[in-house]
Amino acid sequence: MNCDIFKILCLRANGEFTCNYGAGQKVNLGWATAAPDWSVRRLFADRGYALARAMFRRGIAPWATTCEQCVGLQRNEPFSHDVPTKRLEKLLVEPSLACALRCPSCSRVDLATERPGSTFLSVDIWRRVLASLREEGYLVDLFFFCGLGEPLAHPQLEDIIDCGREFFPTTPVAINTNGNYKFKDAFPRGSYPDRLIVSVDGLDQSSYERYRINGNVARALQFMHDARHAPGRAPAVEWKYILFRYDDSDVELIAAQQKAAKLDIDSLQFVLTHTVEKSTRFTPENIEELPIVWSRAYPETTPNLYFKRPEARPLSVTNSEKLAGFGGADRVRINIDYCRSWSGRLMLRGWAMGYDGSGPRRLRIFIGEHEAGVAEVGLAREDVWHVYPSLGNRRTGFNAVCEIPHALTGAVAKVTLVYDAPDGASFQFPVDYDLGHTGAEQFNHHCP
Ligand SMILES: C[S@@+](CC[C@H](N)C(=O)[O-])C[C@H]1O[C@@H](n2cnc3c(N)ncnc32)[C@H](O)[C@@H]1O
Ligand code: SF4
Repeated sequence: MNCDIFKILCLRANGEFTCNYGAGQKVNLGWATAAPDWSVRRLFADRGYALARAMFRRGIAPWATTCEQCVGLQRNEPFSHDVPTKRLEKLLVEPSLACALRCPSCSRVDLATERPGSTFLSVDIWRRVLASLREEGYLVDLFFFCGLGEPLAHPQLEDIIDCGREFFPTTPVAINTNGNYKFKDAFPRGSYPDRLIVSVDGLDQSSYERYRINGNVARALQFMHDARHAPGRAPAVEWKYILFRYDDSDVELIAAQQKAAKLDIDSLQFVLTHTVEKSTRFTPENIEELPIVWSRAYPETTPNLYFKRPEARPLSVTNSEKLAGFGGADRVRINIDYCRSWSGRLMLRGWAMGYDGSGPRRLRIFIGEHEAGVAEVGLAREDVWHVYPSLGNRRTGFNAVCEIPHALTGAVAKVTLVYDAPDGASFQFPVDYDLGHTGAEQFNHHCP
């Protein structure tokens, strides 16, 4: 039995460390303070993490009913965190528990009345956490500012961003916001994150405000526009559009994609949710009916629905640098982050780039012998840019949604990415995926 609380730390606005997902947000794993002797080492040794380690080692879920409902619990995976790896996949940070909106399924209001301590994350506590991670030699792959409130409500948000960069200059910073702000007022000093995920469920005020109570869709759209056109190092902008029963007409979904194209933002994800207001027109079972008309739009789900669109298990390496005899060695790098099989389709995400920093002219996808489609390339990937800053390419990402050919029999699919370089050369990168053992069993079958 395994869990990702050891590689994804979640720091709440009041300085508490908790589990990462919905049900676990009330599980206390320890506290951060600004005291000079506070340390991450002690946090991992203290009661919360010590108990979790001891129980997982014995194959027992430490917080029984909470763990039962949690999408992070991996029942069939052996415990792999006996010794801290000193590498955090993510540091989830909740800068604020305050928010001016009143989205009906958001548990912020309930939690704000129960939870002790500050509504806004103290910059001094944040600084101590960062300093300790640094002193103890941790690597952090991503700072993700989200949590339960509205991150942009924090009065010193730019200090929080700057502090992160002071201790971990190459770690990308992403923020998930409702975007109901003037961009210039939110980042007056120009300390932008690398990526903004902006929750805007609807294009028309009348449908948008059914869920985003108190929200103003025109303000959120303007926020995305201004973020995209910010002077200097503008953040990548992703529109997160949750599919509720109020905002899921074909007309509105198509108009939203046209708007996104006009705003020239990086992508638009349509997210299937599990909460009571969810769309009944679109479900994980009929996702192919979603009217996608823009190449940077794609379907997603909340983590509770991951088990409906599980990850295919790779049977060979997914990074071209690890493939012996790769024809593009020393010329190009290709990495597949994940491959999901969903409703008769394969969804691939990853990044690809030449050794000189150039992008592919085209990236073709073959499933078996069948050419299944062409990936959307040029998507923002700040994390890759931070690893290869001298190559200067911030848009190495790709995304592909391909129909699985009817002729494919058996569980193993050979997926080949063909990288067509600008100079006319082509390089093939094959990966075998087991679609029969997709990892679905890793996710919690009690999810709604
Ligand atoms: C609690 S919000 C905090 C961030 C910010 N205030 C916002 O709304 O984007 C965290 C995430 O929950 C998402 N969310 C809110 N209501 C949801 C629902 N009913 N189903 C799925 N996700 C939801 C938001 O879009 C956001 O991505
Ligand atoms: S905008 Fe975000 S934090 Fe605010 S109520 Fe809605 S989901 Fe919750």
